[in-house]
This record gives sequence, structure tokens and C-alpha cells, in this order.
Amino acid sequence: MLRLYGIAARAWMNRYNSDTAERRQARAAVAEQQPAVVVTGGSRGIGFEIARTFVANGHHVLIIARGAPALTAAAADLNGIYNGRCHTVALDVTAPDAAARIDEALRRAGLYCEVLVNNAATGVSGPFAENADSDLDALTVLNVAALTRLMHSVLPQMLARGSGGVISLASLGGYVPGPHQAAYYASKAYVVSLSEAVAAEISGRGVNICVVAPGPVDTRFHENMGAERAIYRRVLPALTPEDVAAVAYRGFTNGQRVVVPGLHYRLAFLALRLLPHFISVPLTGIILKNPQR
Ligand SMILES: NC(=O)c1ccc[n+]([C@@H]2O[C@H](COP(=O)([O-])OP(=O)(O)OC[C@H]3O[C@@H](n4cnc5c(N)ncnc54)[C@H](OP(=O)(O)O)[C@@H]3O)[C@@H](O)[C@H]2O)c1
Repeated sequence: MLRLYGIAARAWMNRYNSDTAERRQARAAVAEQQPAVVVTGGSRGIGFEIARTFVANGHHVLIIARGAPALTAAAADLNGIYNGRCHTVALDVTAPDAAARIDEALRRAGLYCEVLVNNAATGVSGPFAENADSDLDALTVLNVAALTRLMHSVLPQMLARGSGGVISLASLGGYVPGPHQAAYYASKAYVVSLSEAVAAEISGRGVNICVVAPGPVDTRFHENMGAERAIYRRVLPALTPEDVAAVAYRGFTNGQRVVVPGLHYRLAFLALRLLPHFISVPLTGIILKNPQR
């Protein structure tokens, strides 16, 4: 059933995908290179597991993070099993020249970007009025500006070739305003909106835009944003990064535009779409609150 859905989805995505001269030219331009999956924030957590899943399915990956030691360790881990298919570039993706440096790293490795996984993000918790300016700036620059720039930089070539796609990590939090994580939830609503709008614009041109919206996942993310003691960490079951990666990979390859890992979180997703905000927003605020603050 899922396979039939995948075939139908791909046929629909490719309905305008005729083999034009421009397309042949764009493909010929990368004929000497290998396609690669570029994963921002690929050194740990969900990004690392998505990289592992693509490598395990025969792809080359380029993983990106700021911290070189963790990146090197992650690549050694993957290359230990899938010899030579994991490449790295230590880079802050908020740098103005990030896209150019990713291109350069790909070229040096004989690769081109076939799939971008826009995964790196940061969170800020606590009452918005008390958040530090520097934390809010770091969040919008990474979660919104860098994600937009990277997607914008890879799309023209993908469209010219009529293949590939972008997977962006949003969150269930992208579907409801989140008191006590206001800016983080708002940034994920941006990711959902951007991805779905671009997907509609380029529908039928062979390029898949997929947004992944997990509930809480067991990674360092919550601790790093000072939310480890918030109520949701105790009451909501956490997904594993491996589960999220497997569902994201399957959803993307089947041409799905929105992927929500976990049956219980698919039900929560449905509830968030149906409930009016005067109910869902205060409830979300209750579970996002850190009672010790
Ligand atoms: N964990 C959850 O519960 C959850 C739920 C829903 C959605 N998500 C989303 O899933 C994605 C991944 O989350 P995660 O939990 O796996 O996070 P994580 O464990 O904190 O990993 C974040 C990754 O991003 C990298 N990174 C951070 N800032 C960067 C920058 N400026 N430039 C390049 N790389 C950077 C980190 O490495 P360096 O620090 O070395 O740069 C690390 O590799 C995020 O978009 C998050 O919003 C997470």
C-alpha cells in the first residue's frame, strides 16, 4: 500500500518533468560528480541519524556542524561501516558565505547537492520578555535566516535537473504557538509555512520539499535550551532520533510533504489542527512551563 502510494506520489511530482534540453544540460554539468545529501547539524541527534540512514541506503552524505571533534567522530563512526561515504565540513551555517563553503566542500569531494537536510537549529526557553537579546538573535539567524538561505541556494540547480529535494526539520511546535518557548515555536511555524508554500510553487517539477514535524525527541536539545525541567519532558513520551530519521527518510522518498513521526504524535498533530487556539495555546503553555522558574 505504502509502495503504491510512493509510486503514485513520484508520478504526480514528476508530471511536468519532461526531459528538456535545459534539463539534460543541467544533468550533464554534474555528470562527473556523485549526488550527495547535505545534512546541517549532522554531528549528533536527529541530524546524525538522518545522515546514518541515508548512508546506509547507499548515498554519500556531507555532514555539517560547528564543533570539529564531534563531526570527525561522527564521520569516523559512519565511515567505519560505510567506507568513505561520509564527508564533513566544520562550519557555522549562519556565516554569510556558508552556502559557498558548502559548495566548495562538495566540489572538492567530487559531489553535488542532491538533497539538503535543513536540520541545525537552536531553542530558547522561558518567558519571552526575559529571554536574552543574544539568544533570540542566534535563534532567528539559525532557525529562520540560515535555513531560508540554504534552501534558496540549492533549489535552482535541483529544479534545473528536475530531481532531488529539501527536508526541513520543523516540530509539532510549528502548529501551535508555544508559551515559554515562544520564539522557538514561532521559528518552527516559519519552517512549516515556508516549506509548504515552496512545495506548492514547484509541484510537478521533480523536486520534493518535505517538512518533518516531530514531538519531543531524546537529544541534548532540551538541556541546551534550558528546558530539561519543563513539564513536557516528564509527561510526554520522547521519540528516539533513530525513529525520527527512519520515518523522515521513508516519508521523503515516498514524496510526502509533511511527516509526523509516531502514531500518538500524529493524533496530537490532528488535535492541534482541529482545536481552537484558545484551548490549545494555554494547554501547550502548561506543559512547556518549567515549574522551578
Ligand atoms: N529534540 C527534539 O525534541 C526536537 C523535536 C522537534 C524538532 N526538533 C528539531 O530537530 C532538529 C535537530 O534537533 P536535535 O534535537 O537533533 O538537536 P541537537 O542534538 O542539539 O543537535 C544540533 C546539531 O546542530 C548543530 N548546530 C547547531 N548550531 C549550528 C550552526 N550554527 N551551524 C552548524 N551546525 C549547528 C550541532 O553541532 P554544533 O553545536 O557542533 O554546531 C548539532 O550537530 C532541530 O531543527 C530541532 O528544532 C527537535
